[in-house]
Amino acid sequence: MLNLSVLTEPGFCPHSLNKYASVMACGNGYIGIRATHEEDYTQQTRGMYLAGLYHRAGRNETNELVNLPDVTGIEIELDGANFTLLAGEIRHWQRELNFANGELRRSVLWRSPAGQQYRIESRRFVSLDQLPLVAMQLSVTPVDASAEIVFKTGIDATQTNSGRQHLDEVSVRVFDPHYVQGIYETQDRASEVAISASCRLTMSDSSSCFSAKNRRITAHHSVTVLQGDTVTLEKLVWIAHRSDKALSQESFARNALAELKSCAARGYGSLLEQSASAWETIWRDSRVAVASAEPSDQLALDYAVWHLTAMTPAHDERSSIAAKGLTGEGYKGHVFWDTEIFLLPFHLFTRPQIARNLLRYRWLNLPGAREKARSHGWSGALFPWESAASGQEETPEFAAINIRTGLRQKVASALAEHHIVADIAWAVVAYWQATHDDDFMRNEGLTLLMETASFWMARATEINGRLEIHDVIGPDEYTEHVNNNAYTNYMAWHNVASAHQFMAMFERDDAHFTQKASHFLARLWLPEIDEQGVLPQDDSFMTKPAIDLSRYKAKAGKQTILLDYSRAEVNEMQILKQADVVMLNYLLPERFTPQQCAASLAFYEPRTIHDSSLSKAIHGIVSARCGDMQSAYAFWRDGIAIDLGDDPHSCDDGIHAAATGAIWSGVIQGFAGLQIVEGELHLAPRLPSHWTRLAFPLRWRNATMQITFDMGVLTIDTSAPVTLTLWGKTVTATGRQVWPYEDFLTSVNGTATTEVSDGA
Ligand code: BGC
Repeated sequence: MLNLSVLTEPGFCPHSLNKYASVMACGNGYIGIRATHEEDYTQQTRGMYLAGLYHRAGRNETNELVNLPDVTGIEIELDGANFTLLAGEIRHWQRELNFANGELRRSVLWRSPAGQQYRIESRRFVSLDQLPLVAMQLSVTPVDASAEIVFKTGIDATQTNSGRQHLDEVSVRVFDPHYVQGIYETQDRASEVAISASCRLTMSDSSSCFSAKNRRITAHHSVTVLQGDTVTLEKLVWIAHRSDKALSQESFARNALAELKSCAARGYGSLLEQSASAWETIWRDSRVAVASAEPSDQLALDYAVWHLTAMTPAHDERSSIAAKGLTGEGYKGHVFWDTEIFLLPFHLFTRPQIARNLLRYRWLNLPGAREKARSHGWSGALFPWESAASGQEETPEFAAINIRTGLRQKVASALAEHHIVADIAWAVVAYWQATHDDDFMRNEGLTLLMETASFWMARATEINGRLEIHDVIGPDEYTEHVNNNAYTNYMAWHNVASAHQFMAMFERDDAHFTQKASHFLARLWLPEIDEQGVLPQDDSFMTKPAIDLSRYKAKAGKQTILLDYSRAEVNEMQILKQADVVMLNYLLPERFTPQQCAASLAFYEPRTIHDSSLSKAIHGIVSARCGDMQSAYAFWRDGIAIDLGDDPHSCDDGIHAAATGAIWSGVIQGFAGLQIVEGELHLAPRLPSHWTRLAFPLRWRNATMQITFDMGVLTIDTSAPVTLTLWGKTVTATGRQVWPYEDFLTSVNGTATTEVSDGA
């Protein structure tokens, strides 16, 4: 038994409706549904999204993830009064998301303003087994007397993305007593969605009718329920999506309805069971288990795996992962470097096929990236800083308007945040190293490496005989338009070196490319460690003044520095939004010694506000690698708090997907010490002082391993022999083997006096 966690919402609070709608969202990589309540609240933002379904609503807009017609809303009338938790009294409250079976449940005992008590229970899940299926149940039990109960629910296409409407209603229909269907089309006619719903009451002596008005199709059910009896409304929804129009619209709609009918024949319980067994497989393949004195450590890890699964379109290589997953409209559902650097590692080491899909998404979008490079006068592929379905640049040209000046600040990332090109190449290399998938490398991988490398070779400028990369933004977005950002230069070098190396390995002949690559590698300027032992972030960083950032750090994530200083002023000071050199230390561990990494942490951390959710976890991993487990754990916990902490508005417009990936990475790459060094697997578990055990599954090449580090003893159960480096010493694991950490102590210090056998 895995004993999975349950995420609870402690009470009903109008201020945190949207936070919990995000963190308790359900999804299966195809659809994501915010955990909004059935009844309406003005502050509550409903949201249902389909991976890859983007549309542009107007001239000055970019493509955004479409917020679909709502199916979760149910108007509940109890003895003539609308059920709302803003009135009356909540006498009992329980709301939880059960990670084991994927069910979101709420149980409320409510006393109406008229003094009558009702027990209201709701359950919902998004099927992991049948991707287009959403199932709900809502039950009401009148406690004090019999009651007249009315439910109104259906499909509500008045839903918008903050007022922007993307869909035309093509048709709405009612079929026999239980089914409704709406067909919607994006306004550019590129995609169609058929939403079919069945609504049934458990009590037969109810009366029902339908209405269709103003983009809402609604089933109305009225029933008299005796005191203590329970009426249950079961609603099943099938959400079909298509962008190719091979079938007629009638057949598309008819097939969707037939699918729904076959689910309706099975009912909620059996559908839930089947979805739960699909979740069981996910947990078996990716659950990280810890024994910690702090129980919420385990909760955070289960939460992370839940969302990493719910946000990832494992079924479709044409879509990737949005910065907020499928839980909200933040960043318009766009895809950033977050995917390759923060989310891909989880998949790579648990279900590598998904990592391959994510890279194929970039490969399929190469035409857009080539076009972007070409339009700026460069060769190769310049991947968009933000992308959606097509691979074209989707970064909005301007940030929010300054309402005092009426001016809009240009967003520079699309113009200069070019490191995403090397980040994608880094992920291609990591994928091959962890899988040895030669087919992928020979086809998509090498093309990606060569195109990205070509970009860097064109992008660099020759200055006095050396190549430099000018006018970029590194990961630290508070420092714009600088020359020779260390992160960018080292990653670009790694990108070109990898293209060069894999071309040789896979015998891809291109003498011109090889010659250019050798020239680039010999001449690209790689910033050097200065007299203080620190790698300068860029050419000008070290000449800028530093200021005390403590009050801004105390409000990390809120960008409060921009209330006191303009962006231009921030640019001229030593102020980092997020990890930059430290990020480089994390990604290319073989390039830097632990002393150099420790020096970066000591120098850059006080200068980093951590205003991006991509920052703290990386500091945590690098701290762990430097042996500072206390700081590593503190950073890891701060990373968890980004969405799971007390701030009621931290994730109103969706969870922070990258920070969620970093919860997994912080433990596996931090505390378990997983690194790929020179293409080989390294592990060096060292746990926070109040953890006694860490266990997790790990995929590496053809092996599926279960790794357990318990009271200082490492056990590896592997399906195939694996050669790996444990605490600095190379061993081969076969079958089930046990290694006490003690045996490695001397070798870790450099003088191996203990012979560690390749077995226990
Ligand atoms: C960060 C970027 C990140 C983006 C999306 C920004 O605030 O600075 O690094 O890619 O958010 O998560």
